[in-house]
Amino acid sequence: MSLFSKKIKERGRTIVLVPTMGALHEGHLSLIDAARKKADVIVVSIFVNPIQFGPAEDFKRYPRNLNHDKKLLKPYEPIILFTPKAEEMYGADFRSFVEVSKLGEKLCGKSRPGHFRGVTTVVAKLFNIVKPDYAFFGEKDYQQQIIIKKMVRDLNFDAQIITIPTVRESDGLAKSSRNAYLSPPERRSAPILYRSLIKARKMIKAGESNPRKIIKEIRNLISGKSVVQVEYLSIVDPEKLEDIKKIKGKVLVTLAARIGKTRLIDNILVNSK
Ligand code: PAJ
Repeated sequence: MSLFSKKIKERGRTIVLVPTMGALHEGHLSLIDAARKKADVIVVSIFVNPIQFGPAEDFKRYPRNLNHDKKLLKPYEPIILFTPKAEEMYGADFRSFVEVSKLGEKLCGKSRPGHFRGVTTVVAKLFNIVKPDYAFFGEKDYQQQIIIKKMVRDLNFDAQIITIPTVRESDGLAKSSRNAYLSPPERRSAPILYRSLIKARKMIKAGESNPRKIIKEIRNLISGKSVVQVEYLSIVDPEKLEDIKKIKGKVLVTLAARIGKTRLIDNILVNSK
């Protein structure tokens, strides 16, 4: 792969990378669509990255179906599909990690210690292997793309990071490979997550500037669905990801929740002006 990228670059062509863990859906495809408009050579990586999963998390049962993924990618040809094996990425003596401190410890980082270290390490490796001019990420994983942008700035990677809006089901649920875990009743409850974000946006747009009031209101809304357990529900500065005391300018309303055994995340950027 590295040699291939080197040759492509020597010919003066641009490379775009869309990193994924497979189980592709329209969210991933929207990144590929956007990537296509940006460059000559599109690399899609599919790699369920073991080091970003905690010991009690869903690494083993994470959905894997390469044949189905290949079918979904057919209409986007030509695409270079990069599917490394875990042994190639992490040899037995693998010792080096990339960590973005502070940003990686907030929000999802609190309940998933080491998760973002696993993400930044694999993305740094993918960047070094593929040598992309651009790399595309989804706003759905808002904290992830902020952390990757910081890593790129701090460590002088060449890739320019482009973030694409969240693709949703018709009832508002953010598309996610993990939605496949939901039982039918859980799936029926899941849109409450986005509805609660919309409610927060409405309150902010109506002039509410106290985050605590908004959080209380939408927690109440969610608690109407007993299968949904909120892990965090925060209104934060969209760059520093720190809680804010008073809403002013752009804010990020972000949440993580468990529906049964499935952990889902969602967020919405709101401009209070
Ligand atoms: P994965 O969950 O497969 O997501 C791959 C990319 O698709 C991420 O940038 C994610 O934000 C984006 N994405 C997922 N759902 C989306 C949706 N509904 N709308 C728009 N974009 C969406 O995120 C990862 O994999 C991994 O952490 C990875 C970056 C590949 C590193 O292992």
